[in-house]
Parts: sequence; C-alpha cells; structure tokens
Amino acid sequence: MEKLFVDLGKNSYDILFSDSFSALPKALADINVPKKLLVVTDSNVEKLYADEVNNLLKENGYDSAVYAFTAGEENKNMDSILGICKACIEHEMDRKSMIVALGGGVVGDMAGFAAAIFMRGIDFVQIPTTLLSQSDSSVGGKTGIDFMESKNILGAFHQPKLVYINVGTLKTLPPEQFVSGMGEVIKHGIIRNGSFFDYVEENSEKIKTLDSETLIKMDKINCSIKADVVEQDEKEMGLRAILNFGHTIGHAVESAYDFKMTHGECVGIGMVGASYIAHKRGLIDVETLKRIENILDMYGFKTRVTLPEKETVFSFMQKDKKKIAGKLKFVLPTKIGEVMQTTDVTKDEIFAAFDYISE
Ligand SMILES: NC(=O)c1ccc[n+]([C@@H]2O[C@H](COP(=O)([O-])OP(=O)(O)OC[C@H]3O[C@@H](n4cnc5c(N)ncnc54)[C@H](O)[C@@H]3O)[C@@H](O)[C@H]2O)c1
Repeated sequence: MEKLFVDLGKNSYDILFSDSFSALPKALADINVPKKLLVVTDSNVEKLYADEVNNLLKENGYDSAVYAFTAGEENKNMDSILGICKACIEHEMDRKSMIVALGGGVVGDMAGFAAAIFMRGIDFVQIPTTLLSQSDSSVGGKTGIDFMESKNILGAFHQPKLVYINVGTLKTLPPEQFVSGMGEVIKHGIIRNGSFFDYVEENSEKIKTLDSETLIKMDKINCSIKADVVEQDEKEMGLRAILNFGHTIGHAVESAYDFKMTHGECVGIGMVGASYIAHKRGLIDVETLKRIENILDMYGFKTRVTLPEKETVFSFMQKDKKKIAGKLKFVLPTKIGEVMQTTDVTKDEIFAAFDYISE
C-alpha cells in the first residue's frame, strides 16, 4: 500500500492510500488505537459508507458506534460540536477512546475540533471522502468551526494519528465537488511542484474517469506537497501562507456570490486573478498565464465570472482574516511551481484583475 510519513516530531503520522477500506483494521492495529471508537460522519456519507466502516471495525473487535450530523457547511457550528461531544459521552468514551472522522472537510474539521476539546483532547484519525479533504484539508491538523458568519474562526491545531485515504469513495462524489477538489490539486502544482502540474495536465482523462492508480499517485503527491509545507510551518507563521494562493480574490468572489459557488471554483477564479497580476508585473509570461487558465478550463472550472460593482467586491476583500497590518496579502506565481508573497498589490492592480476575470 502507498504510504507517506508526515514528520511533525511527536505529532508525526502516516497517510495511507488505497482504493478500498479493507486495510483499515490493520492500519489501526499497527498504531495501537484503543478499542472504543466513535465514527463521526455527516448525513450523506452516513448513507454511503458508515455501515461498511462500522461493521469492519466491529468485526475486528472494536467497540464502535456511529454519530452523524446533518451535512453542509451551515452545520459546521457549535451545536454540531456539542452533538458530537454528547455522542462521545453516551458511547461512554474516556481519555483513551478515539474519534474516526469519516467524510469531507466539514466532517474532518468538526470531528478534529471535538477530539481536540473532549476531555481536554483525545486522539482521532481521518478517513477523508472528498477530493478536497483527500488532497488538502485532512493533512495539517487545522480543525475548527464557523461562528458569527466568520469561517473557521474557532478552532485548534490537533494532528490526527493517521489519515486513511480510500480513493474509491470519489466514485460517489457529486461532479461539482470533484471540480472543487481539483482546485486545490492544481493550486499545489502551481505553488510548489511544476512536474506535478505537468502530471495533472497530461493525465486529465485518467483523473477525470477516476482511474484508481492515477488518483492514488495524484493524492500522494498532493499530500506530500501539503505535508512538506506544514512540516516547515506547522502553525502558519510564514511559509504555510503560500497555500492561500488564489484565496485573496477567491474569498471575495465567494462572498459576492453569497457562498453559492463552491470554495474550489472561487479559488480557481482567484488563481486566474492573481496570475494576471503576476503577469502584469512581469513575473510570469503570457504563456504561463494561459497554461494556468487552460488547466482550470480542462477540469471544468469557470475562469470568468459576472462580478458586482468593483468597489463592492473590493470591500469583501477588506474582511480577509489573513490581512497583515491592515494590508492585503497576495501570493503571486513567479513560474509554475514557485510563488512569492507580497502585501504591496495596489487597488489599481486588483481592479485590473477584476476586469480580467469578468465575463
Ligand atoms: N482543515 C483544513 O486545513 C482545511 C483546508 C481546506 C478546507 N477546509 C474546510 O473543508 C470544508 C470543505 O470540505 P469539502 O469540500 O470536503 O466539503 P464537505 O465536507 O461539505 O463535503 C461536500 C459534500 O460532499 C458530500 N460527500 C462527502 N464525501 C462524499 C462521497 N464520497 N460521496 C458523495 N458525497 C460525499 C458531503 O456530505 C457534502 O455534502 C470547508 O469547511 C473548509 O473550511 C479545511
């Protein structure tokens, strides 16, 4: 089985890659997980995979139960966390019990946060089932919830003991969620690894038809890029911020569309906007800009949108949590596989990017 080691000292863990759940019991036994487990999932994933995983755990001697909350970002809140904690108490969990997060990024972030606070912190493992969570959110230990209209404003760094990726789960993923996850995949290539970008460009047919071997290779390189950045900057003090490529404009587009477009789609448009700024500054040539747009187009992204008045979109950008000393932070490509961070992008440059991404 393909394996990746995330080296975070005493918080280190493995990421395993498979096309089924069959190797899960052995993977858990190998890290000596406790017998008492709570599988936390959402209402969609519950119907698809909770029985299979729970039965597998029970057959292998685990005392496991399932808790599902209603799927959706709107339920990524304290009520759901309290629901998970209540289920932990009802399942008579103690400090040595463990949570198994089975689902997309919402499940991972919430199950991880509940694990971080239940009895002052218990262990958890991640079984991500969306492309976004398999390629991004399950790696890095950021957990949390939304509160008072601010995304991920409450949370904790809490690393999992293991990440078990079954690419077979992507077969049931709605197409728009697959596209959303590809946004993170393409982003990882642009910010850190040009040859991975080439791989994603050259293998688009196999990736889009969900060929297991290709998906495992893609997920593994993806996770290694994210893990490498996280290993160097676990608590987001510097380098980790390059993962925000496409997010400064992307978040504003997300707000402009009242969160009706997926996060990945908005980041895709944000990446085009940031790449245009980089091109106008002479950091990348027009061919590189077009290559970035083409790969997004190849995977079904919109690269142009109808935006409201520019001042309105700009005002959404001012709410960005990642501002430094009141200045917007931009990640700009200098070539495919390399980026720079800057806080000196002017309003004129941003407005020109808005014009460029407008249809
Ligand atoms: N912790 C991090 O570092 C990090 C990084 C990026 C994003 N995130 C968070 O991740 C969340 C988004 O994650 P997401 O895109 O996975 O969304 P999600 O968890 O809401 O999943 C998307 C939808 O797909 C469904 N689903 C999940 N797996 C499925 C499967 N295999 N088959 C069919 N349907 C399935 C879910 O029920 C949901 O309806 C956001 O809350 C974001 O803040 C966290």
